[in-house]
Amino acid sequence: MPRKRIALVGGGQIGGILALLLTQKELGDLLIIDTPEQAERMQGKALDIMGYRPNGGHDVELRGSGDFADLEGADVVVITAGMARRPGMSREDLLDVNLAIVRHVGEQVRRHAPDAFCIVTTNPLDAIVYAFHQASGLPHHRVVGMAGALDSARFRTYLAMETGYSVEDVACLVMGGHGPTMIPLIRTATIGGVPITDLLSPERIEAVAERTRNAGTEIVSLLGNGSAFVSSAAAIAEMVEAHVRDKRRVIASAAYCQGEYGVDGYFMGVPCVIGAAGVEQVIEFPLTPDEQQLFDNSFGAVQASVRKVRENP
Ligand code: LAC
Repeated sequence: MPRKRIALVGGGQIGGILALLLTQKELGDLLIIDTPEQAERMQGKALDIMGYRPNGGHDVELRGSGDFADLEGADVVVITAGMARRPGMSREDLLDVNLAIVRHVGEQVRRHAPDAFCIVTTNPLDAIVYAFHQASGLPHHRVVGMAGALDSARFRTYLAMETGYSVEDVACLVMGGHGPTMIPLIRTATIGGVPITDLLSPERIEAVAERTRNAGTEIVSLLGNGSAFVSSAAAIAEMVEAHVRDKRRVIASAAYCQGEYGVDGYFMGVPCVIGAAGVEQVIEFPLTPDEQQLFDNSFGAVQASVRKVRENP
């Protein structure tokens, strides 16, 4: 079987690490695309990783490009293109500049790779994935936003740090929009199958949940120049792998909802099944009234963000 073709649109910090992680996973041949001015830099990045492959015995090929025509035949397209936050900025502050970029990418995908499965990561995530879906014209099960995988990984990280237990044994779910209203669902958090509520006090759990909600912003202010990229790339790689290997993994993602949790016609952070067909199912389970209220509040924030997309044709 020919190898899959995976295109990374945006060869910045996330794109570079993602290319490395996907090479290590040997999921397919990689193309790193950026603006025409960046074509040579992209070729340099690709060649650098080409030279790394003998080290781990990874048989995939990498190419760099500044030309969207090279998207032709891509099976997977990951969109990381756009501006990252600087200290003091909210994700919403990026909307105008990133909307124009992602709409352009969506049109190029419509033209050159209409059969691809697309993972969007540009901020403000929930509105940008909505805009990409519109611009690309792709069916909604082949468009998804990466956020829940990262937010859940952070919740796991901070629970492991708080308890001193292995991060590997922590499971949890973060739902809602990718912003300060996201919901780390406490009752889904377990360590080695033991509910977190039996291991930590309510005050410590709330502190961990708050750190999770604020994690991206904390890193932006510490880095001083850009946002988290290693953890973001790892979360994307997890989604690409679930699709390429048809794992049917259950990963919280910004998926198109059609009535689930009271959301219709928007992309929202919900648990969903990712497999060969793309987003194969949105998993709906009953929320408690308190949880539903938090979810509705987060949906309100996403709707406000999407409204700006609609008002900016
Ligand atoms: C974060 C940004 C990338 O959460 O949204 O780190």
